[in-house]
Amino acid sequence: MTLANTPSLHNETARAFLRDAIHGLTGARKSLPPKWLYDHAGSALFEEITGLPEYYPTRTEISILRAHAANLAGYISEGGALVELGSGASIKTRLLLDAGPHIAAYVPIDISAAFLHATADDLHTRYPHLAVHPTVGDFANPIALPAALHDLPKVGFFPGSTIGNLDPLDAIALLVRARAWPGIETFILGADLVKDPQVLIDAYDDKAGVTARFITNILTRMNAELGADFDVDRFDYIAEWNADAAQIQMSLMAQVDHHVSLGGQDIRFANQESIAVSQSRKYTMDSLENLADAAGWAVHEVVTDPETNFAVAVLKAQSPV
Ligand code: TRP
Repeated sequence: MTLANTPSLHNETARAFLRDAIHGLTGARKSLPPKWLYDHAGSALFEEITGLPEYYPTRTEISILRAHAANLAGYISEGGALVELGSGASIKTRLLLDAGPHIAAYVPIDISAAFLHATADDLHTRYPHLAVHPTVGDFANPIALPAALHDLPKVGFFPGSTIGNLDPLDAIALLVRARAWPGIETFILGADLVKDPQVLIDAYDDKAGVTARFITNILTRMNAELGADFDVDRFDYIAEWNADAAQIQMSLMAQVDHHVSLGGQDIRFANQESIAVSQSRKYTMDSLENLADAAGWAVHEVVTDPETNFAVAVLKAQSPV
């Protein structure tokens, strides 16, 4: 593969992005991994999504965490540690930390090192007695927890229904890995619930077009970082409900037969051919139980909002067989 004329490829991230992009766009069914949505512009657009009128999950989950903060924080043992996957700005976590002064340590894990360290500094100021151990890592891969916390009892925290953005087997694998953390007792999982498909579609295809810009940004990013020549006006954003898989599927659909150049490859798009960019699985009490069970956990308690739009599930480690 030629990397000529691709100006920003001297860093490892860009090379990994190029590998993923070429792999995803040269297969029989085109796709791009959603982790590449979150550059600086993408992260800002995502923040905007969380405040949209149609996007109920963030505010609903926050209302649940607020209403059940003492109960949920009570799952963390005295002197124990809270370990969060994909911690971002740790806004939701603060509800648990405020209700749990007995929590000794917090391990925020995030792929963005800059964000992570800024958040850790802020938490250190807010909670001077909390030992904060920021850990750079991609939760799709195994993560080494800080050795200093090896013996502490631990509770995992994975809010945002981000579990639903993983392929089903990857979601199970993540929970299997967490089940193997030393000292792990409990896992608090945020999961969006199956509901009226129109409500779901609106949440992922907002009137203001923020989600469309968020998804389309992945094309702009390939142009800027990989020297590709996508014409974003040739693609439409589509959000669909797949009832069989119980998931919203987000894709970019070519509106005309055309070619794009990327990393020395010529990629053809047929008219109406789409690039699958992300999915967001929705759960029922049964599917949550099946997910937990497949990964060595048992659903111990589920708290929801009064309309049962969103669930925060408390999973307990099943004893090893
Ligand atoms: N975990 C969030 C969700 O599935 C992430 C999200 C919201 C998202 N809107 C999105 C992911 C649009 C991709 C595209 O709701």
